[in-house]
Amino acid sequence: MLRRLHSEQPDSFAFTPDNQAWAEGQITKYPEGRQASAIIPLLWRAQEQEGWLTRPAIEHVAAMLGLSYIRALEVATFYFMFQLQPVGAIAHIQVCGTTSCMICGAEDLVAVCKDKIADAPHALSADGNFSWEEVECLGSCSNAPMAQIGKDYYEDLTAARMGEIIDELAAGKVPVPGPQNGRYAAEPLKGLTSLTEYDSGKTQYNASAQLAVDIGDTVKRIDGTEVPLLTPWQGRAANAQAKPAVAADETPAPSGEKPAVLTAARDTGPDDLKKIKGVGPKLEKLLHSMGFYHFDQVAAWTAAEVAWVDENLEGFKGRVSRDKWVAQARDLAEDTAT
Ligand code: FES
Repeated sequence: MLRRLHSEQPDSFAFTPDNQAWAEGQITKYPEGRQASAIIPLLWRAQEQEGWLTRPAIEHVAAMLGLSYIRALEVATFYFMFQLQPVGAIAHIQVCGTTSCMICGAEDLVAVCKDKIADAPHALSADGNFSWEEVECLGSCSNAPMAQIGKDYYEDLTAARMGEIIDELAAGKVPVPGPQNGRYAAEPLKGLTSLTEYDSGKTQYNASAQLAVDIGDTVKRIDGTEVPLLTPWQGRAANAQAKPAVAADETPAPSGEKPAVLTAARDTGPDDLKKIKGVGPKLEKLLHSMGFYHFDQVAAWTAAEVAWVDENLEGFKGRVSRDKWVAQARDLAEDTAT
């Protein structure tokens, strides 16, 4: 396939301050004279920021790495992971069309994409929310046919399920990734015939799907506010560079206000906090350890309390406000009460 830059390009590109600091931190991973090796992560971060890779973004990255523009363009046009044209605002769907998937129904999935999104690959849907393309084997052949949507794999798909997934995404939901036909992973559809002890102690979904559910950001693009990738050789987090330094003897003021907590769930037992979108088993466990067991507790958090919880959710900082837990918990508390 011919990969060309899109005919319409923005005038300029700049990383956000967080992303700029992150990018500068990544460059320091490489020895002097080898900074060009950072090109793929930097192009990827530019794409995550904008949704697709624009010409000004490629030029900006080339300049940061001291590369001639053509060298950066060679990389951007070679790898299919780089999108050289605008993609759907909600999701870009990559349907595997290689042998196993093709035999198991990939063409039906493509037909759904054509019907629901756009006739041609890489074209935007009428509302601009979706785009699709056919890609080569994504390494999930035992769960064919499959598609990658955002960061995760949707496997064992049928045309009907593919259509439902697009509808769910359009409605603001994020369907659970992984096998869509009831399989746990890649075992026989009728159940395990060997290694049956593997059944014990497993999580609700297979490891990949479970992690995707726990993280809860399948179609969210990286925006630089995530837990920073560390650059310990600099003695700090990569994206800490953009922030004002805090003197060693100066303790930052705690933000927010700690909400009231319980020492245990009420006699009725804890509510299923996993019903809050974005909360998986890990986060639920963390919330229990912090003294939160019930929807009405979350529903009552003030803005200052949300700030405190957001700050103290180790490994999941910012999730409360990002996923609007308070509003969700209010609805769930009402449902529970009725
Ligand atoms: Fe589709 Fe390998 S053939 S994932």
